[in-house]
Amino acid sequence: MSDEKIPFLDLVTVHRGLQEEFVEILKTVLNSAGFIGGPMVQGFEQDFAQFCESRCCVGVGSGTDALRFAFMAAGIRSGDMVVTVPNTFIATTEAISQAGACPDFVDIDERTYTMDPAKLRQYLETQCTWDSKVKRAFHKGTGNPVTAVVPVHLYGQMADMDPLLDLATQFNLKVIEDACQAQGAEYFSKKENRWRKAGSVGHAAAFSFYPGKNLGACGEAGAITTDDEQMAQTCRLLRDHGQSKKYFHDIEGYNGRLDAIQAGFLRVKLRHLKKWNEQRREIAERYYKLFAGSEGDVTLPHQPEWSRSVYHLYVLRVADRVQLQKRLDEAGISTGIHYPIALHLTKAYEGLGFRVGDFPVAEKAASQVLSLPMFPGLTARQQERVVAEVLKSSPVAHSGGLR
Ligand SMILES: Cc1ncc(COP(=O)(O)O)c(C=O)c1O
Repeated sequence: MSDEKIPFLDLVTVHRGLQEEFVEILKTVLNSAGFIGGPMVQGFEQDFAQFCESRCCVGVGSGTDALRFAFMAAGIRSGDMVVTVPNTFIATTEAISQAGACPDFVDIDERTYTMDPAKLRQYLETQCTWDSKVKRAFHKGTGNPVTAVVPVHLYGQMADMDPLLDLATQFNLKVIEDACQAQGAEYFSKKENRWRKAGSVGHAAAFSFYPGKNLGACGEAGAITTDDEQMAQTCRLLRDHGQSKKYFHDIEGYNGRLDAIQAGFLRVKLRHLKKWNEQRREIAERYYKLFAGSEGDVTLPHQPEWSRSVYHLYVLRVADRVQLQKRLDEAGISTGIHYPIALHLTKAYEGLGFRVGDFPVAEKAASQVLSLPMFPGLTARQQERVVAEVLKSSPVAHSGGLR
């Protein structure tokens, strides 16, 4: 077997065939000096809204900006509590705090790693009291209103949205999808009897175009999608210092605009996204086949029948992750950990007062998850090597479920 190194992600090859188009974008921007806003940004916004089957798209500087602006546009205010999951990138909770609210958590489903609707129901029914006069749930501990829920579509797979939306309606919560890892992912809504795209389901959604994402810029970029024109308009103000026109500031905002060059690059790359997501699904399918039939202690990703994942990451769970990652590293195979510490236990949130054991499913996942190489262009031979090395140290496999 070859001992060629296998990267976790290859961001060089994917851009080779796009270089000429990128040069054209640069020339257009340089010849017009339209560095900020303008047709490149508007063109991308139109294309991405269409891709997400959403009415509006607002391009911004990053996924974190997208989350923060979406929360503020949804009316989240200082003192509100916003519920999300502990196993996400810290940007989810940073943006909640930066909008003035306090993050709170509910545990995840042990098979999908996304928000468990039963845990959200339990939280709202047992840890909150319902005030029917103001139509709000108030957290019993803090006395503060719970105003929004943020399901995170993790690893390219959407959360189980039907029951989450029902709870949001019952408890008057805004739903902001963290779709930063899920461009193109789909969810089958039984209630509507149709597949729905990430970014089209909640009141608004946030996307990141950080370079390693399924749709990645060549720098920082993000976007908000929403069907609500009013929310989109507020996000447009927030990204640009609250200006409705130059130097007329309706509100205080931020410098959170999408760069025109990045918008141009993203527009080129968006035309390939469907094909790249298809390739990721084929690669995931091959991983499943290569692992099939082995017995042991590795858990493969679980895709419920209501989900069409875009496999931003292919994440195993294994009891002895340290040993497996070391072994793969020695074999020249790069892996990642998404994420090693559940957020309620991270140092930044010590002040929130959570303890080990508060969210046991997320905590266990944090100690066991390992992301294998996954990117369009990963070859069958490379995958065979990865799987052979995994099986040497941890014979496999079953799909989903903590053991
Ligand atoms: C789940 C999740 N939320 C939010 C973000 C933040 O996006 P950005 O890095 O573009 O600010 C990321 C990006 O890594 C993410 O994965």
